[in-house]
Amino acid sequence: MGSVSEGKPHAVLTPYPVQGHINPMMKLAKLLHTRGFHITFVLTDFNHKRLLKSRGSSALDGLPDFQFKTIPDGLPPMDADVTQDIPSLCDSTQKNCLIPYCNLLTRLNESASVGLIPRVNCLVSDVSMSFTIDAAEQFGVPIVLLWPSSAASCLGAAHYHSLVEKGLLPLKDESYFTNGYLDTVIDCIPGMKDIRLKDLASFLITTDPNDLMLDFVVGVMDRAHRASAIVFNTFDGFESEEVNALSSVYPSLSLHAIGPFPSFLNQAPENQLVSIGSNLWKEETECLEWLETKKPGSVVYVNFGSITTMSREQLFELAWGLANSKKPFLWIIRPDLVNGGSVILSSEFVNETKDGGFIASWCPQEQVLNHQSIGGFLTHCGWNSMTESVCAGVPMLCWPFFADQPMDCRYACTKWGIGMEIDTNVKREKVEKLVNELMVGEKGKKMKEKTMEWKKLAEESTSFGGSSYINLDKVIKEVMLKQK
Ligand code: UDX
Repeated sequence: MGSVSEGKPHAVLTPYPVQGHINPMMKLAKLLHTRGFHITFVLTDFNHKRLLKSRGSSALDGLPDFQFKTIPDGLPPMDADVTQDIPSLCDSTQKNCLIPYCNLLTRLNESASVGLIPRVNCLVSDVSMSFTIDAAEQFGVPIVLLWPSSAASCLGAAHYHSLVEKGLLPLKDESYFTNGYLDTVIDCIPGMKDIRLKDLASFLITTDPNDLMLDFVVGVMDRAHRASAIVFNTFDGFESEEVNALSSVYPSLSLHAIGPFPSFLNQAPENQLVSIGSNLWKEETECLEWLETKKPGSVVYVNFGSITTMSREQLFELAWGLANSKKPFLWIIRPDLVNGGSVILSSEFVNETKDGGFIASWCPQEQVLNHQSIGGFLTHCGWNSMTESVCAGVPMLCWPFFADQPMDCRYACTKWGIGMEIDTNVKREKVEKLVNELMVGEKGKKMKEKTMEWKKLAEESTSFGGSSYINLDKVIKEVMLKQK
């Protein structure tokens, strides 16, 4: 029996099951589809249900050469629109997903043997779903890992063992969190300058050498040696030194910057996959109409991604800082943004900001960032937010919380010239001052120019003949299409 996909290579893509990892994997899936791949995109049952709810079933089916498949995540069933607990998810996927995943690969190859779809050629997996490496070895296919955040954050994590050997980590005791020790500049990671201990991935900074998340990250970094390649959603010029330095840590792997994905996809030929989205929350599009009523470059966009939570005090300081800046703002407040309950902003705040503020719980972020009314982005420095902001030419106020965010913030503020940092111990006066500086100050103007330069470089890298374009070709030809 013939099929539409006959003769196509078949890639199975598996993101780590949270929004900030699903989005870049979906973009990579679309890029591979434009390069002629048959795609199987693997979601957990939990996220598949959420995606069906947020986007409707028509957004997920109907294309013969792009199919969704699911595996269980091993956690107890839950009926809620929230990000699952990260340590539990790490532990559970690592322990429980290999068997269902291998069963899925077997079923795909059975369908291939009767000509329904092409045989699986290669796996593409989030680096944090490292059980997929065992599966690749079992099925004798190459595996490409996607590192879904900055190459700099990868480089820091890859050097954990050497930081331990030098006695810098783990922390001796709890006092090291507050005694200034974390300001120590690390000068022993080749490819990195002016990085402090506190800029490293937060999971590495602990007093407990047996900490679950530390163990997970170190395990993932170690297992990556057994993959065929690692690809990064970044580009030459932005993070060339970091990707090059990683090549010495992983000498047997093919390592490539193949991003930034938003810019890559903007230039990809129009294809049938435009309607396939990956937002797990329902997008509230009214904010786009509101943006239409605002002057070009006048609105501050505030969003903390899908996982970050903050205290009530932090939220109120931020709220009043925004109100006092007197700049129009679009603020996305997820229902679970504040620790320990939903947010109720005072009527005084609501009255004060009713003409200039718009609050929603989830939005189509890339459309927002590319709207001409947006002048700046107050972000938690999730890597997708940062790359989407660069691709839209929007400078940032950086308020990092955890994981790779401190490193991304450090680079944005000290290396790339596109951000200014907001302290964790946030005060309204500081927010007001920084928002004004970003929107109408001299520093803000310089950051805007710098962001526009990076945007242009990102576009060059991802257009035909650019470095990321060539690197993607290389990964496809030299790794994904190679027989093991
Ligand atoms: C997580 C980690 O927290 C982050 O540090 C890491 O770099 C990637 O994975 P998250 O915190 O959710 O990500 O932030 P981010 O990387 O910015 O990803 C959020 C994604 O959701 C972005 O693609 C963004 O466009 C999208 N989004 C977010 C929306 O479309 N609408 C929203 O309202 C909020």
